[in-house]
Amino acid sequence: MNSAIYDKINRLKKEKHAVVLAHTYQPGEIQDCADFVGDSYGLSVEASKVTSELIIFCGVRFMAETAKILSPSRRVILPEPDAGCPMADMINAAELRDFKSKYPDHIVMCYVNSTAETKALSDICCTSSNALKIAKKIALDKGILFIPDRHLGSWVQEQTGRDNMVMWNGCCPVHVRITPEMLLDAREKNPDAQILIHPEAPHECRILADHVLSTGGMCDLVKASEHREFIIATEKGILHTLKKSNPEKIFHHLSDSLTCPDMKLGSLDSVVASLEGNGGQEIVVPPDVAEKARFSLVKMLEMSV
Ligand code: 13P
Ligand code: SF4
Repeated sequence: MNSAIYDKINRLKKEKHAVVLAHTYQPGEIQDCADFVGDSYGLSVEASKVTSELIIFCGVRFMAETAKILSPSRRVILPEPDAGCPMADMINAAELRDFKSKYPDHIVMCYVNSTAETKALSDICCTSSNALKIAKKIALDKGILFIPDRHLGSWVQEQTGRDNMVMWNGCCPVHVRITPEMLLDAREKNPDAQILIHPEAPHECRILADHVLSTGGMCDLVKASEHREFIIATEKGILHTLKKSNPEKIFHHLSDSLTCPDMKLGSLDSVVASLEGNGGQEIVVPPDVAEKARFSLVKMLEMSV
């Protein structure tokens, strides 16, 4: 470990009254300089409580936008301006307006992996860790348009038994690489391991796992579990988080192909540049969009407790 750069980051954080937030898919060295590492839900909660003037958000654009919307008086910097989420761009405002016009009586449940504009047109947001809880609180006779991830939507539908959900046809290009064969093979090679899979994976894969969980849910389960060995079917960054908190346990990553290129754009140098004010991009959300998007995000936070 190059401790000089960590010392520099810590000094800059104090000088600039800054906090570094990082998603569990970020490279390990970035997680190690963060004040908080978590899943999309944990990061949203953390962002809503931040008292520092500056948030350096190590993740992808929709996450930094969410932090800005929930903490409008703070400056939010995304160290890697090109770090997007292909799934978030699979539906835009015009497409959502059109979708809504076809189902005027349905409410729109919007996965947080989405743009601020689509959140602003939605009734409630969710993350992979609270989607089920929120859907269970919505009256059963109310139709739901679920955007943009058809797999997370179908998981919610299966778990709640709702027959009135219509899914947008989006997906995560990383999690759809998971195949039943990969899981069967991993199970055969590691018969004592529990398989943990993210709900962005397709149905035929989810049914082969022991647990379907958000990344935060995976961290909590591993910590509390009496099992020692796990097969992790999600993006590889989380292996760092899991190994760090559970050094006595054994983890097998399902496949190296489960690597999100956008999550891997960052480096400690770009964190330093963002803190110094000569790198990254400040997140700006137009006030009218932010106000409406905030409404659906706050509703999510309220319904998650
Ligand atoms: P989490 O909700 O588990 O943070 O997942 C976010 C994500 O981008 C998954 O691909
Ligand atoms: Fe988006 Fe998938 Fe990357 Fe998550 S892993 S940020 S959903 S592309």
